[in-house]
Formats: sequence, structure tokens, C-alpha cells
Amino acid sequence: MEVKTINQQLLTDVLNGLTHRPKYLESKYFYDDEGSRIFQQIMQMPEYYLTNSEYDIFDRKPEEILQWFSFGNNPVDIIELGAGDGFKTRVLLRHFMNKEADMRYMPVDISEEANRRLLAAAQKELPGLYIKPYTGDFFDVLPQIQMIDNRRKVFMFLGSSIGNFDQQDAVRFFKHIGQFMNKEDLLFTGFDMKKDPAIVLPAYDDPHGYTAAFNLNLLKRINRELDADFDVSAFKHYATYNPVSGEAKSYLISKKTQKVSIGVTDQTIHFDNWEPIFMEVSQKYDEDMIRKLANDSHFSLLHNVADEKHYFMNSLWRKNII
Ligand SMILES: C[S@@+](CC[C@H](N)C(=O)[O-])C[C@H]1O[C@@H](n2cnc3c(N)ncnc32)[C@H](O)[C@@H]1O
Repeated sequence: MEVKTINQQLLTDVLNGLTHRPKYLESKYFYDDEGSRIFQQIMQMPEYYLTNSEYDIFDRKPEEILQWFSFGNNPVDIIELGAGDGFKTRVLLRHFMNKEADMRYMPVDISEEANRRLLAAAQKELPGLYIKPYTGDFFDVLPQIQMIDNRRKVFMFLGSSIGNFDQQDAVRFFKHIGQFMNKEDLLFTGFDMKKDPAIVLPAYDDPHGYTAAFNLNLLKRINRELDADFDVSAFKHYATYNPVSGEAKSYLISKKTQKVSIGVTDQTIHFDNWEPIFMEVSQKYDEDMIRKLANDSHFSLLHNVADEKHYFMNSLWRKNII
């Protein structure tokens, strides 16, 4: 008989989420191998304006960003948290290499599949680049990275990954990163800006069905890894955008009263008719919100840079030394 190793953390988090009222699941679990593949499809669809917007910044302003990172031509280690396929980052790295910047690149991702793809693409497109990927939760990997040496580190958190935290968790996250930063280190984060709701919503509820498949894939993952019996066809994906708070939220909604058993335990989860599972928030920002987030997290905002349409902003911060 095949003996399966159970991912205990996944089990604990899934049970916590599905026994909570309202039910929720943690979005970091979206990214198993299949989830990472579906996310690639999301990033390539025209409705997902975020990728092109941040790409536009890196494509138009790489020299400005290099100067901010290296203060001229000082050595720098680029630590990218949640790097995904690293597609946009390679635009910057290519420019930095052309300028012979003394730079090393350390992408960190929880998905092994994402790191495999990133490494293959970087080795092909940027031969000679110093690259050392880390696979794991960024919270676990940060202490290892801090130990490397004393070169200046730029921690990058790109895309709209920070948008997946609510405001309090975003402050907690940045304060946590701050503990692993020296006074010369920098933090470079992507922020999706508030904009026409008719542009925001289709990025999370597209006509091709990729965002629905991405959310439903987490139920399939739970079936596979925790021996659960979710009937995926009995749930529907639903997305909302609140232009006041700037929150885009995704849910999976049970289309009927049903029970789901989690096979690796004796737990059964009851769903009412039309009961939602909250899946993910994607927070949209304005400049005041970014500045407040930096202040609340004990950082100083050094520079902001936006794409031509002002859909997206990258913000460079330095930790306040108290
Ligand atoms: C929304 S994607 C963004 C990818 C990339 N930064 C971009 O802008 O295209 C989020 C990435 O973060 C990774 N991720 C999510 N939670 C993580 C965690 N707790 N630790 C490390 N990586 C994580 C996922 O595997 C995924 O590749």
C-alpha cells in the first residue's frame, strides 16, 4: 500500500479555514505545480493588465532603478520574494548585466515548479548571471538569506503580491522583513493602483475561465493531498471589487447544501446552500495608502515609479533606523 506523507501545515490551515465562520482558504496554497501553470495563463491573458503595467515600468526605467539599487556601481544582491516565473525581473537584470553591475540574483518561491522554470529561463536568456534560487516559504528562507554576507541587499516583492495581504498583515509582513534588513538594504515593492472598476474586475473574473480554474484548483489540491472529496463542479467562482476600499475579493461558492470529508482526518465539513469560501484579496492602492503603509511599517519611502497609464506603481523604501 502506498504511504502518503501528509503536509501537516496544509492540513492544519485547511481545517482552520474551513471550520471558521465565514470559511476561508489561504491563497499561498494556490501555487502547487498546476496552480503555478494556471497562473502563467492568467498572466498572459489581456485582462490581467498587471503584468504588462509592471513590465512597462521596468522596460522604460531600468537605468533609474539600477541607480537607486546600486548608488552608482556598488555591489548588490537582489532577493526576489515570491518570484514566480521572474519574467519581468529579467528585463531589469538584462539591463543591469549590460551595465556590468556587480549583482547577484536570489529568487525565493514556495513553488518548486516556479523555481525550475525561472532557473531554466534565466540560464537560457541571461548566461553568466549569478543566480541562486531558494525554494520555501519566504518567512522560513529569510534567516538563511540574512546570513549570506554583508553586501547590500535589495528585497523585491513584485507583481501585486502585497495586495494579497489585508492592511494589518501587510504592515506585519514588512516589519518582519525589516528585521532581516541592514541599514543599507532596500525594499522594492509592486502596488496595483486604484483604477476604473471595469478594468480591475475582469483581471479576477475573466471570460476564458482561467481565474475560476485557478481558484478551483485549490480544491483539487486538497482532494489530492488530504484525501478530500470536494465535488469541484458543485462550487462556483465569484469575484467582487469595492472601489472605496480598493479590495478585489475572490470566493468559491457552494452551489448546494453538501458535506465534504477530509480523508486524512475524520473531519467532515458542512456547506450550506450558496455558502462562500473566501479565497483571496487583491488590494488596490493609492499614493497616500502606500506612504501610510511605509510609515506604519517603519520604512521611509525614497522613490515611486509608475507605468504610463498609472495602473501600477513600484515603490522603493529604506528601513528607519531608530
Ligand atoms: C502572484 S504570484 C507573483 C509572481 C511574481 N512576483 C510576479 O510578479 O509575476 C505569487 C508568487 O509568490 C509565490 N508565493 C506565494 N506565497 C508564498 C510564500 N509564502 N513564500 C514564498 N513564495 C510564495 C507563489 O508561488 C507565486 O509564484
